[in-house]
Amino acid sequence: MSSLSQLFRTKSLDELVAETQEEGHQLKKALGPWNLVALGVGAIIGAGIFATIGTAAAGDIHRPGAGPGLMLSFVITAIVCGFTALCYAEFASMVPVSGSAYTYSYGTLGELVAWIIGWDLIIEYAIGNVAVAISWANYMNTLLQGLGIHLPAWLTTDFQTATRKMPDVVASAPHIFGFPIVINILAFSIVALITIVLVWGIRESANFNFWMVALKLLVLGFFVIVSFKYVKPANWTPFAPNGMHGIFSGAAVVFFAYIGFDAVSTTAEEARNPKRDMPIGIIGSLIVCTIIYGVIAMVFTGMIPYRALVGALATEQAEPLTLAMKHVSMAGWMVGIVALGSVIAHTAVLLVFQLGQPRIFFAMSRDGLLPKFFAKVHPKFRTPHVATIITGIFVGVASMFTTLEEMVDLTNIGTLFAFFLVCVGIIILRKKDPHRERPFRVPGGIVLPVLGAISCVGLAWYLPPSSWKRFVAWLAIGLVFYFSYGFWKSRLRTGQAPILPAGHNVVHDFNPESRLPERDVNEEDKK
Ligand code: ALA
Repeated sequence: MSSLSQLFRTKSLDELVAETQEEGHQLKKALGPWNLVALGVGAIIGAGIFATIGTAAAGDIHRPGAGPGLMLSFVITAIVCGFTALCYAEFASMVPVSGSAYTYSYGTLGELVAWIIGWDLIIEYAIGNVAVAISWANYMNTLLQGLGIHLPAWLTTDFQTATRKMPDVVASAPHIFGFPIVINILAFSIVALITIVLVWGIRESANFNFWMVALKLLVLGFFVIVSFKYVKPANWTPFAPNGMHGIFSGAAVVFFAYIGFDAVSTTAEEARNPKRDMPIGIIGSLIVCTIIYGVIAMVFTGMIPYRALVGALATEQAEPLTLAMKHVSMAGWMVGIVALGSVIAHTAVLLVFQLGQPRIFFAMSRDGLLPKFFAKVHPKFRTPHVATIITGIFVGVASMFTTLEEMVDLTNIGTLFAFFLVCVGIIILRKKDPHRERPFRVPGGIVLPVLGAISCVGLAWYLPPSSWKRFVAWLAIGLVFYFSYGFWKSRLRTGQAPILPAGHNVVHDFNPESRLPERDVNEEDKK
């Protein structure tokens, strides 16, 4: 095999599908269309709506704000995600296996693209979680303050935010050799705690997902109901203080709030009728979330005038929803309820992302693309402890020092790139393998996948240049890793047997891209 063709070695699609049919490893086909919509909503709603809308509406030093046009930003992003969602649905029905984008691309576009997607998903999961941890810490701090507990600001602020806009915090911080110590210890603590819980072994259950979805919807519903009477239509003019540029920049930021619909595709094996229900689950959850987000954006921008929001966010590290509530002098207990609900909802998102990342590492390690220790399973707890701890250290340390906006931007560009590749994958496969059975087919030929690919790049275009640079650097580092390790050690190249001894199938059905309930896969253990 020439070196070039090795780069495009694919895993056999039929083998991938056949693996899922092995006795003892078949998943129960129990999910109907409504289950799938609910799972999608659970995976989508998280830190995005609680945290990113402030920056999207007000803008910052890197971009103009959308102002009340934020409502339109949400619709634009939903359309971009809709194109990609259809492509995910086609892949999921054609290759109904759990691994989602990483597995699809390994089976269709070859190893190099699979590696790039796997490496890129680290941004979606780990960097995404850095952003969620920072946002968690901000809401937690608001909650603690409401309870009369005031932590020193140098322990609850990241260094960059403090140096850029909070000189008082820098002045009040202890100095070591003249260097101010300013760290976000709350963000680090929650990541550490979650890592310990995950090493110990926790499985999300369908019940857990249900209660979390209910809680998120209740908190957001509570916010809308108590805030509605403070909405002043006058605050909606001018609708777009920075024109369409502001609205598109806002759309690129709030993209974070939509990440997660892709996770529905990972349940394709469990859908009763994937051909009909995959598109319903994916598109349906997108529509539900777009409506919820549109209403929140309407209330939020109607409560606080654009100028007041810009002024507040320029001088403090504030959480948008509680900021708006405080702006209209709402009772402390109401602010407290939203802060508490938000903290719990964030914790659930953190848990699921932090659970997903080690499983991506696991999948890549099992294929020989990452060193074997990433796939180690703890002898007692049966969890991928090494990968979990590595993820925890990476996310925890990064969340102490980085800003929310930077991490959201990087997550968005990385995820948009993965979505772009999925759209391109559909286009290529239509040419390369036109006769493969496609239980669901994106209608209209390749028009929508092409629009999907273009619009993902278009949205990413509105992200700041600094995030593009970071992203390119990340991909370059990934390629160095691949060509110095994975290329040589790949199991497709070496033809080695699976690295796990028989019986250690705890993650046979690992769900690398899922933020949905993990299935209890180890049937043998139950017997
Ligand atoms: N959509 C997910 C969230 O907003 C990433 O937390």
